[in-house]
Amino acid sequence: MKLGCCYYPEHWPEAMWADDARRMREMGLALVRIGEFAWSRLEPEPGHYDWGWLDRAIDTLHAAGLEVILGTPTATPPKWLVDTMPDMVAIDEKGRPCGFGSRRHYCFSHEGYRAEAARIVTALAERYGRHPALHMWQTDNEYGCHDTVLSFSDAAASAFRGWCAARYGTVEALNAAWGNVFWSMEYRSFAEIDPPHLTVTEANPAHWLDYRRFASDQVASFNREQVDILRRLSPGTPVTHNFMGFFTEFDHHAVGRDIDVATWDSYPLGFLEQFWFSGEEKAAYFRQGHPDIAAFHHDLYRGCSPKESGSRWGVMEQQPGPVNWARFNPAPLPGMVALWTLEAAAHGAELTSYFRWRQAPFAQEQMHAGLLRPDSTEAEAAGEARAAAAVLAGIGPQTTGQAPVALVFSYEAAWTIGIQPQGQNFRYLELAFEWYQALRVRGLDVDILAPDADLSGYRMVLVPTLPIIPAGFADKLAALDCPVLLGPRSGSKTESFCIPEGLAPGDLKRAIPLTVTRVESLRDGIAEAAEGFTVTRWREDVASGLAPELSDKAGRGVVYAHGHVRYCAIWPDRALLRRLVERMAGKAGVPLLDLPEGIRIRRTAAHAFTFNYAAESVFVPHLGETLGPASWHIAPR
Ligand code: GAL
Repeated sequence: MKLGCCYYPEHWPEAMWADDARRMREMGLALVRIGEFAWSRLEPEPGHYDWGWLDRAIDTLHAAGLEVILGTPTATPPKWLVDTMPDMVAIDEKGRPCGFGSRRHYCFSHEGYRAEAARIVTALAERYGRHPALHMWQTDNEYGCHDTVLSFSDAAASAFRGWCAARYGTVEALNAAWGNVFWSMEYRSFAEIDPPHLTVTEANPAHWLDYRRFASDQVASFNREQVDILRRLSPGTPVTHNFMGFFTEFDHHAVGRDIDVATWDSYPLGFLEQFWFSGEEKAAYFRQGHPDIAAFHHDLYRGCSPKESGSRWGVMEQQPGPVNWARFNPAPLPGMVALWTLEAAAHGAELTSYFRWRQAPFAQEQMHAGLLRPDSTEAEAAGEARAAAAVLAGIGPQTTGQAPVALVFSYEAAWTIGIQPQGQNFRYLELAFEWYQALRVRGLDVDILAPDADLSGYRMVLVPTLPIIPAGFADKLAALDCPVLLGPRSGSKTESFCIPEGLAPGDLKRAIPLTVTRVESLRDGIAEAAEGFTVTRWREDVASGLAPELSDKAGRGVVYAHGHVRYCAIWPDRALLRRLVERMAGKAGVPLLDLPEGIRIRRTAAHAFTFNYAAESVFVPHLGETLGPASWHIAPR
């Protein structure tokens, strides 16, 4: 795994660049990501490019022995461009246009902006596409960051009408699919259809789901336009995009199929603070991040990268110290930055790049740490990058093969649950994360895969939930010969967001014969007793000839099994998940560990890595030794 950093030469006097480059090398870095926000400096006036500074910056980095990851600058269209076509900005759900003065203010559907994006990408690729310092391209920056996937502009509305026409052929077919007879929502032509916002109460969930699918397709096609240009003008140079954490607003599997290397931006402390974690977890891990946050995304994004090209992935931005954007922004425990770096290697990353080289003394992110302080002295993370580089040099390249366990993850499932949660504590990402965690605390390596992935060769397959069952999926599960666990709400909707004929789990009845007759959601704080676990958040009544494998205290079935397939009819708590993982692993002959709180392991082909995320020293039985806080143990396998 190569180390790198995110660098903004345009922020610093040119006289500093050579010394910066020298210090990067000295710190053990090999890669520098540059350029992704530099449009106003690359094209200060419409049509007048200024390549001189970027030529010199790239040459300076190259001369020091560094390679460059060059970002296309389309996340930050300059003021003059917005002024020449003011309708290129995204319109939010409340109908308000985005103002200029931060970033990501464009609408993915605006044809004029797409043409401008293609123009600047073409110019950049013509200039640098064959430069010897070029290691990789990055398209744009964090598609969707700051809630920017959905736009409700005229451009989006008109593109959506075309999308609907292509999908349904006739407006009658759309009306029937969506159930528009309800509340007199029928349309006489595609031209009458608007985006599903500004309605008095909720819009039709089928309308929303298609709007989300459409918006996701717009992200994918926007990206593909850039990738096509880069591949044409820079043949052989891999293309990446830097995805985000806990983010499901577009189909990352679809975008992933169009690039060569899926990368993501890892901010474990910010994510712990901003997401659903309990008060106890936030307190226990505030300087480390929850032990499954980084790992979950490593495994998710490895699975977003095309398998045919080796499932290449990496970390494009690694938190180096306090960030600026969470509600509270603590500093990592000494050792954590190195630990996060090595953990990426343990999951098979090909690069980890710290965000950012030097803390900026100006503008929005002046409170965001870097490897250097604004005065160029080393910040705490610099020594940790060096330490990680030394460890990586010692252990050599790492590769990961297929993990024993597959967890099926679906962006469409996230949208479907999000559009109609039915209980406000039913959160798709949290459910998937809990199931992942239940595997990781038992020492299992996990591949997180799209529903259409090849599941053969896995020894256990878990599907936290999959409301819409893609064609062929039920038969694929039925044909497996390993234990399979399906979560609640699986098969509960059709393609067009309706209850399936014959009720849930729809098509999955081919894998397990049961019918969900009623569902209920439970507010936080309600926990109904069962043998050794509790029923919280969600419960389904099931009719089946199968006797339940597990029931609650009132005798209602909770888990059903049929051959190798199990169905769990509640939101499983940690105790139930633990029991189900044990049953599946026992059947599959997969050995489990009982890792102490805060300890995780991950195996590559050559090494087993053990990490201590706890804030204190922990005795680790499988090692027979104690690991200090924020420390690791690496052993040949
Ligand atoms: C990322 C983004 C970077 C920077 C960073 C700060 O989301 O890609 O440009 O803003 O966050 O943590």
